Amino acid sequence: MNHEVLSPAGPLSSQIAQLFWIFLAVSAVVYLVVIGFLVAALRRRDEANMRTAVRAVAVAVGITSVVLLGLGLSDFFAGRVIAAMPQDALRVRVTAHQWWWEIEYSDGQPARRVRTANELRVPTQRPVELELTADDVIHSFWVPSLQGKKDLLPGYTTRLDFVASRAGVYEGQCAEFCGFQHAHMAIDVIALEPDEYSRWYEAQLASPPEPSNPVTLHGRDVFLGSTCVMCHNIQGTDASGSVGPDLTHVAGRRRLAAGTLPNDAVNLAAWIRNPQALKPGTRMPATQLSGEDLAALTAYLSELR
Ligand code: CUA
Repeated sequence: MNHEVLSPAGPLSSQIAQLFWIFLAVSAVVYLVVIGFLVAALRRRDEANMRTAVRAVAVAVGITSVVLLGLGLSDFFAGRVIAAMPQDALRVRVTAHQWWWEIEYSDGQPARRVRTANELRVPTQRPVELELTADDVIHSFWVPSLQGKKDLLPGYTTRLDFVASRAGVYEGQCAEFCGFQHAHMAIDVIALEPDEYSRWYEAQLASPPEPSNPVTLHGRDVFLGSTCVMCHNIQGTDASGSVGPDLTHVAGRRRLAAGTLPNDAVNLAAWIRNPQALKPGTRMPATQLSGEDLAALTAYLSELR
C-alpha cells in the first residue's frame, strides 16, 4: 500500500518528488546563509564601509538571480517531462460524482469498453491517460505516489497522465472539498503486471456467471425486484441503471462506498440496510428488506467477481 508523495512509484511522480528535494535543499542552504550573515552583522557593531556594503549587496543579488534561474529551469524541465504526450497510452475516462468515481475504459469497439467504480486497475510500465470530468461539483484526482493533482470540472474534460513503474496498490483521495462526504471519496489505483492486467480486463468484459445456488438465485430476484435497479447496472441482467456504481464485478473490488469500508459480506449488508448511518449524505437510499432477503442479496452480490 502506498499513498505518500515522497515515495514515488512512477517516472512522473519521481519528477515531482525530485523537484521537491531540489527546492528543499536550495532553500535550506539559502536560509542558513542568510541567518549566518544576519548573526555576523549583529555581532559587528562598527561602522561598515559604504563601498564594502554596496559590493556585498551586488554579490547577493547576483547569487540570488543564479539560484532563482536554476530553480526556474528545474521546474521548467520537470513540467516538460510531465506534460509530454504519452505513446500507446491506455485511455480511461474518470467521472467524479458526489461521492464516488465512475471509471470507463475506452476502446475502439464499444463491446470492449469496461465500466467500474472507485478502483482503477492499470498495467505497469504503460502510460495511462485519464480524461477527467465531473458530474456535479469540482473534485480533484490525487494519487500521490503516481502523479500530481488534477481538478475534475463539470462540463469540461481535463487530462492527466501517469505511469506506474511497479505493481502495487496506490491509494488516492479527492483533493478538492466537494461537500459533506468529501473525506469519503477515495480511489484505489491497482497496478498489475501486463499479463495479469489483460486477464483481469478480459474477465471484466464477461457477464458474471449465473447464481450458483438457490440462495444467490433468490438474491438476484431480490435485486431485480427492488429499487436497486433504478441506479445500478449488472451486465447480463435487466438492471441497467447508471446513477450509481456499476455492480457487474462489485465483489472483486477492495472497498465499498469509495473507500468508506472494506468490501466484505458484513459491511455490504450493513451498507445496503442503512447507507446513511455509514456515510451520511450519500445519494444511496436505505433499502427495506427482510433479514432473509438481505442475506440472499448480499450472497448474490458477493459472487459478482
Ligand atoms: Cu470529491 Cu472532494
